[in-house]
Amino acid sequence: MGAGIAQVSVQSGHDTVGREVTDELGERGRATIDRYLTRGVEKGRLSQEERDAALARLTLTTELSDLADCDLVIEAVLEELDLKREVFAELDRVTRPDAVLATNTSALSVSEIAAATQHPERVVGMHFFNPAPVLPLVEIARTPDSSEAAVDAAYAWAERAGKQPVRCNDTPGFIVNRILIPLLNDCVRVLDEADVHPEDMDKAMTNGAGWPMGPCALIDLIGIDVHVHASEALHGKLGEPRMAPPERLVRMQDEGRLGRKSGSGFYTY
Ligand SMILES: NC(=O)c1ccc[n+]([C@@H]2O[C@H](COP(=O)([O-])OP(=O)(O)OC[C@H]3O[C@@H](n4cnc5c(N)ncnc54)[C@H](O)[C@@H]3O)[C@@H](O)[C@H]2O)c1
Repeated sequence: MGAGIAQVSVQSGHDTVGREVTDELGERGRATIDRYLTRGVEKGRLSQEERDAALARLTLTTELSDLADCDLVIEAVLEELDLKREVFAELDRVTRPDAVLATNTSALSVSEIAAATQHPERVVGMHFFNPAPVLPLVEIARTPDSSEAAVDAAYAWAERAGKQPVRCNDTPGFIVNRILIPLLNDCVRVLDEADVHPEDMDKAMTNGAGWPMGPCALIDLIGIDVHVHASEALHGKLGEPRMAPPERLVRMQDEGRLGRKSGSGFYTY
Protein backbone atom coordinates (compact mmCIF):
# COMPACT_ATOMS: atom_id res chain seq x y z
CA MET A 1 0.00 0.00 0.00
CA GLY A 2 2.86 2.37 0.85
CA ALA A 3 4.44 1.88 -2.58
CA GLY A 4 1.08 2.55 -4.25
CA ILE A 5 0.65 5.80 -2.32
CA ALA A 6 4.23 6.83 -3.13
CA GLN A 7 3.45 6.17 -6.81
CA VAL A 8 0.40 8.47 -6.61
CA SER A 9 2.64 11.12 -5.05
CA VAL A 10 5.48 11.01 -7.59
CA GLN A 11 3.03 10.84 -10.50
CA SER A 12 1.34 14.00 -9.28
CA GLY A 13 4.65 15.86 -9.33
CA HIS A 14 5.77 15.75 -5.69
CA ASP A 15 9.30 15.07 -4.53
CA THR A 16 8.66 12.06 -2.34
CA VAL A 17 10.65 10.32 0.37
CA GLY A 18 9.74 6.65 0.76
CA ARG A 19 10.66 5.24 4.15
CA GLU A 20 10.92 1.49 4.65
CA VAL A 21 12.34 -0.55 7.51
CA THR A 22 15.19 -1.99 5.39
CA ASP A 23 16.96 -0.87 2.19
CA GLU A 24 15.93 -4.10 0.54
CA LEU A 25 12.21 -3.51 1.21
CA GLY A 26 12.60 0.06 -0.03
CA GLU A 27 14.11 -1.18 -3.28
CA ARG A 28 11.30 -3.69 -3.60
CA GLY A 29 8.79 -0.85 -3.31
CA ARG A 30 10.66 1.18 -5.91
CA ALA A 31 10.71 -1.84 -8.25
CA THR A 32 6.93 -2.19 -7.86
CA ILE A 33 6.43 1.46 -8.82
CA ASP A 34 8.86 1.08 -11.74
CA ARG A 35 6.97 -2.00 -12.97
CA TYR A 36 3.57 -0.27 -12.93
CA LEU A 37 4.88 2.92 -14.55
CA THR A 38 6.71 0.93 -17.25
CA ARG A 39 3.53 -1.03 -17.95
CA GLY A 40 1.74 2.34 -18.20
CA VAL A 41 4.22 3.43 -20.90
CA GLU A 42 3.71 0.17 -22.80
CA LYS A 43 -0.06 0.68 -22.69
CA GLY A 44 0.23 4.32 -23.79
CA ARG A 45 -1.10 5.76 -20.51
CA LEU A 46 2.02 7.88 -19.95
CA SER A 47 5.17 8.78 -21.88
CA GLN A 48 8.66 7.45 -21.23
CA GLU A 49 9.68 10.97 -20.11
CA GLU A 50 6.81 11.11 -17.60
CA ARG A 51 7.82 7.71 -16.22
CA ASP A 52 11.46 8.75 -15.87
CA ALA A 53 10.54 12.06 -14.22
CA ALA A 54 8.16 10.35 -11.78
CA LEU A 55 10.77 7.79 -10.72
CA ALA A 56 13.38 10.53 -10.32
CA ARG A 57 11.13 12.24 -7.73
CA LEU A 58 11.40 9.23 -5.39
CA THR A 59 14.18 8.95 -2.83
CA LEU A 60 14.40 6.11 -0.34
CA THR A 61 15.42 6.00 3.28
CA THR A 62 15.16 3.84 6.37
CA GLU A 63 15.29 6.88 8.70
CA LEU A 64 12.14 8.70 9.82
CA SER A 65 14.32 11.78 10.39
CA ASP A 66 14.72 12.05 6.58
CA LEU A 67 11.05 13.14 6.49
CA ALA A 68 11.99 16.36 8.33
CA ASP A 69 11.30 18.64 5.34
CA CYS A 70 8.06 17.04 4.16
CA ASP A 71 4.81 19.06 4.02
CA LEU A 72 2.70 15.91 4.27
CA VAL A 73 3.55 12.47 5.66
CA ILE A 74 1.25 9.55 4.83
CA GLU A 75 1.86 6.59 7.11
CA ALA A 76 1.09 3.04 5.87
CA VAL A 77 2.90 0.73 8.31
CA LEU A 78 1.36 -2.51 9.61
CA GLU A 79 -2.16 -2.21 11.01
CA GLU A 80 -1.03 -2.27 14.68
CA LEU A 81 -2.02 0.51 17.06
CA ASP A 82 1.14 0.45 19.20
CA LEU A 83 3.38 0.53 16.14
CA LYS A 84 1.46 3.41 14.58
CA ARG A 85 1.53 5.35 17.85
CA GLU A 86 5.29 4.85 18.07
CA VAL A 87 5.75 6.04 14.48
CA PHE A 88 3.54 9.12 15.05
CA ALA A 89 5.30 10.08 18.27
CA GLU A 90 8.58 10.02 16.35
CA LEU A 91 7.11 11.83 13.32
CA ASP A 92 5.82 14.52 15.66
CA ARG A 93 9.38 15.08 16.91
CA VAL A 94 11.20 15.01 13.57
CA THR A 95 8.86 16.82 11.16
CA ARG A 96 8.23 20.56 10.74
CA PRO A 97 5.48 21.80 13.11
CA ASP A 98 3.28 22.81 10.15
CA ALA A 99 3.53 19.42 8.41
CA VAL A 100 0.32 17.41 8.14
CA LEU A 101 0.58 13.84 9.49
CA ALA A 102 -1.85 11.38 7.89
CA THR A 103 -2.54 7.73 8.59
CA ASN A 104 -3.81 5.29 5.98
CA THR A 105 -5.32 3.05 8.66
CA SER A 106 -8.43 1.13 7.62
CA ALA A 107 -9.74 0.10 11.00
CA LEU A 108 -7.84 1.77 13.84
CA SER A 109 -8.92 4.96 15.56
CA VAL A 110 -7.20 8.02 14.10
CA SER A 111 -7.77 9.80 17.44
CA GLU A 112 -5.88 7.10 19.34
CA ILE A 113 -2.99 7.38 16.88
CA ALA A 114 -3.05 11.20 17.09
CA ALA A 115 -3.00 11.05 20.90
CA ALA A 116 0.60 9.78 20.70
CA THR A 117 1.65 13.22 19.38
CA GLN A 118 1.94 16.61 21.07
CA HIS A 119 0.05 18.17 18.15
CA PRO A 120 -3.06 16.07 17.42
CA GLU A 121 -4.51 18.99 15.46
CA ARG A 122 -2.23 18.18 12.54
CA VAL A 123 -3.22 14.49 12.37
CA VAL A 124 -5.88 13.23 9.95
CA GLY A 125 -6.86 9.96 8.29
CA MET A 126 -6.14 9.56 4.56
CA HIS A 127 -7.67 6.21 3.70
CA PHE A 128 -6.72 5.06 0.21
CA PHE A 129 -8.22 2.01 -1.49
CA ASN A 130 -6.14 -0.80 -2.91
CA PRO A 131 -4.57 -0.49 -5.46
CA ALA A 132 -3.99 3.17 -4.55
CA PRO A 133 -2.81 4.28 -8.04
CA VAL A 134 -6.00 2.86 -9.60
CA LEU A 135 -8.91 3.44 -7.21
CA PRO A 136 -9.94 7.10 -7.03
CA LEU A 137 -11.45 7.34 -3.55
CA VAL A 138 -9.56 8.75 -0.58
CA GLU A 139 -11.50 9.13 2.68
CA ILE A 140 -10.19 12.16 4.58
CA ALA A 141 -11.08 11.39 8.20
CA ARG A 142 -11.11 14.17 10.78
CA THR A 143 -10.88 13.60 14.52
CA PRO A 144 -12.45 16.03 17.02
CA ASP A 145 -8.93 17.52 17.35
CA SER A 146 -8.01 17.76 13.63
CA SER A 147 -7.63 21.36 12.49
CA GLU A 148 -9.59 22.54 9.48
CA ALA A 149 -6.27 23.51 7.88
CA ALA A 150 -4.94 19.94 8.16
CA VAL A 151 -8.15 18.44 6.75
CA ASP A 152 -8.21 20.96 3.89
CA ALA A 153 -4.53 20.34 3.08
CA ALA A 154 -5.03 16.56 2.92
CA TYR A 155 -8.17 17.00 0.81
CA ALA A 156 -6.45 19.40 -1.59
CA TRP A 157 -3.41 17.12 -1.93
CA ALA A 158 -5.62 14.18 -2.88
CA GLU A 159 -7.61 16.27 -5.33
CA ARG A 160 -4.46 17.59 -7.02
CA ALA A 161 -3.28 13.99 -7.33
CA GLY A 162 -6.37 13.28 -9.44
CA LYS A 163 -8.19 11.44 -6.65
CA GLN A 164 -11.81 11.79 -5.49
CA PRO A 165 -11.46 12.71 -1.81
CA VAL A 166 -14.42 12.76 0.58
CA ARG A 167 -14.60 14.21 4.08
CA CYS A 168 -15.73 11.98 6.90
CA ASN A 169 -15.33 11.55 10.64
CA ASP A 170 -13.06 9.21 12.56
CA THR A 171 -15.77 6.59 13.06
CA PRO A 172 -15.27 2.80 12.68
CA GLY A 173 -14.96 1.82 9.00
CA PHE A 174 -15.27 5.49 7.95
CA ILE A 175 -17.86 5.42 5.12
CA VAL A 176 -17.11 2.61 2.68
CA ASN A 177 -15.96 -0.19 5.01
CA ARG A 178 -18.77 0.57 7.49
CA ILE A 179 -21.19 -0.37 4.71
CA LEU A 180 -19.21 -2.78 2.54
CA ILE A 181 -17.85 -5.15 5.21
CA PRO A 182 -21.24 -6.25 6.64
CA LEU A 183 -22.69 -6.29 3.12
CA LEU A 184 -19.99 -8.64 1.81
CA ASN A 185 -20.43 -10.79 4.92
CA ASP A 186 -24.18 -11.02 4.14
CA CYS A 187 -23.31 -12.22 0.63
CA VAL A 188 -21.02 -14.94 2.00
CA ARG A 189 -23.67 -16.07 4.54
CA VAL A 190 -26.25 -16.35 1.76
CA LEU A 191 -23.93 -18.81 -0.04
CA ASP A 192 -24.38 -21.26 2.82
CA GLU A 193 -27.87 -20.34 4.06
CA ALA A 194 -29.40 -20.56 0.60
CA ASP A 195 -26.92 -23.04 -0.93
CA VAL A 196 -25.82 -20.70 -3.72
CA HIS A 197 -22.62 -21.19 -5.76
CA PRO A 198 -20.11 -18.31 -5.79
CA GLU A 199 -20.45 -18.09 -9.61
CA ASP A 200 -24.22 -17.65 -9.30
CA MET A 201 -23.88 -15.12 -6.46
CA ASP A 202 -21.46 -13.04 -8.54
CA LYS A 203 -23.59 -13.32 -11.67
CA ALA A 204 -26.65 -12.26 -9.66
CA MET A 205 -25.06 -9.21 -8.06
CA THR A 206 -23.32 -7.97 -11.23
CA ASN A 207 -26.37 -8.41 -13.45
CA GLY A 208 -29.13 -7.69 -10.94
CA ALA A 209 -27.60 -5.06 -8.67
CA GLY A 210 -25.21 -3.53 -11.20
CA TRP A 211 -22.09 -4.23 -9.15
CA PRO A 212 -18.96 -3.91 -11.32
CA MET A 213 -17.60 -7.08 -9.71
CA GLY A 214 -19.32 -9.88 -7.81
CA PRO A 215 -18.87 -10.10 -4.02
CA CYS A 216 -16.90 -13.37 -4.11
CA ALA A 217 -14.51 -12.07 -6.78
CA LEU A 218 -14.17 -8.86 -4.76
CA ILE A 219 -13.30 -10.68 -1.52
CA ASP A 220 -10.75 -12.76 -3.46
CA LEU A 221 -9.21 -9.51 -4.71
CA ILE A 222 -9.19 -7.85 -1.27
CA GLY A 223 -7.70 -11.00 0.30
CA ILE A 224 -9.66 -13.31 2.62
CA ASP A 225 -7.28 -12.54 5.53
CA VAL A 226 -7.53 -8.76 5.01
CA HIS A 227 -11.34 -8.95 4.91
CA VAL A 228 -11.53 -11.22 7.99
CA HIS A 229 -9.23 -8.88 9.90
CA ALA A 230 -11.28 -5.83 8.91
CA SER A 231 -14.52 -7.63 9.86
CA GLU A 232 -13.13 -8.53 13.28
CA ALA A 233 -12.02 -4.94 13.85
CA LEU A 234 -15.40 -3.47 12.87
CA HIS A 235 -17.28 -6.10 14.88
CA GLY A 236 -15.05 -5.40 17.87
CA LYS A 237 -15.96 -1.71 17.72
CA LEU A 238 -19.65 -1.73 16.77
CA GLY A 239 -20.73 -5.24 17.74
CA GLU A 240 -23.36 -5.89 15.03
CA PRO A 241 -23.50 -9.66 14.36
CA ARG A 242 -23.35 -9.03 10.57
CA MET A 243 -19.92 -7.48 11.02
CA ALA A 244 -18.33 -10.64 12.44
CA PRO A 245 -16.49 -12.69 9.79
CA PRO A 246 -18.60 -15.59 8.47
CA GLU A 247 -17.42 -19.07 9.47
CA ARG A 248 -16.73 -19.93 5.83
CA LEU A 249 -14.20 -17.10 5.46
CA VAL A 250 -12.43 -18.02 8.70
CA ARG A 251 -12.13 -21.61 7.40
CA MET A 252 -10.72 -20.42 4.09
CA GLN A 253 -8.20 -18.28 5.95
CA ASP A 254 -7.13 -21.23 8.12
CA GLU A 255 -6.66 -23.35 4.99
CA GLY A 256 -4.47 -20.66 3.40
CA ARG A 257 -7.01 -19.99 0.65
CA LEU A 258 -6.52 -16.23 0.76
CA GLY A 259 -7.88 -15.27 -2.66
CA ARG A 260 -5.95 -14.07 -5.70
CA LYS A 261 -2.66 -13.62 -3.89
CA SER A 262 -2.51 -17.30 -2.85
CA GLY A 263 -3.82 -18.66 -6.16
CA SER A 264 -7.13 -19.82 -4.71
CA GLY A 265 -10.07 -18.44 -2.79
CA PHE A 266 -13.67 -18.67 -4.00
CA TYR A 267 -12.05 -19.13 -7.42
CA THR A 268 -8.78 -20.61 -8.67
CA TYR A 269 -6.23 -18.23 -10.23
N1 LIG B 1 -4.05 -3.60 1.84
C1 LIG B 1 -5.16 -2.88 1.73
O1 LIG B 1 -6.10 -3.21 0.99
C2 LIG B 1 -5.29 -1.58 2.49
C3 LIG B 1 -6.27 -0.67 2.08
C4 LIG B 1 -6.38 0.54 2.76
C5 LIG B 1 -5.57 0.79 3.85
N2 LIG B 1 -4.63 -0.12 4.24
C6 LIG B 1 -3.80 0.19 5.40
O2 LIG B 1 -2.46 0.41 4.99
C7 LIG B 1 -1.58 0.03 6.06
C8 LIG B 1 -0.57 -0.96 5.54
O3 LIG B 1 -1.25 -2.09 5.05
P1 LIG B 1 -0.65 -3.03 3.90
O4 LIG B 1 -1.75 -3.90 3.44
O5 LIG B 1 0.09 -2.20 2.93
O6 LIG B 1 0.36 -3.88 4.76
P2 LIG B 1 1.78 -4.48 4.33
O7 LIG B 1 2.05 -5.56 5.31
O8 LIG B 1 1.78 -4.79 2.88
O9 LIG B 1 2.77 -3.27 4.56
C9 LIG B 1 3.13 -2.86 5.85
C10 LIG B 1 4.38 -2.01 5.80
O10 LIG B 1 4.81 -1.76 7.14
C11 LIG B 1 6.21 -1.92 7.19
N3 LIG B 1 6.62 -2.25 8.54
C12 LIG B 1 6.68 -3.47 9.12
N4 LIG B 1 7.16 -3.38 10.38
C13 LIG B 1 7.38 -2.06 10.60
C14 LIG B 1 7.89 -1.32 11.70
N5 LIG B 1 8.26 -1.93 12.83
N6 LIG B 1 8.00 0.01 11.57
C15 LIG B 1 7.62 0.63 10.43
N7 LIG B 1 7.14 -0.01 9.36
C16 LIG B 1 7.03 -1.35 9.44
C17 LIG B 1 6.49 -3.03 6.20
O11 LIG B 1 7.85 -3.00 5.81
C18 LIG B 1 5.54 -2.68 5.07
O12 LIG B 1 6.08 -1.74 4.19
C19 LIG B 1 -2.47 -0.52 7.19
O13 LIG B 1 -2.74 0.50 8.10
C20 LIG B 1 -3.73 -0.92 6.44
O14 LIG B 1 -4.87 -0.90 7.25
C21 LIG B 1 -4.46 -1.30 3.57
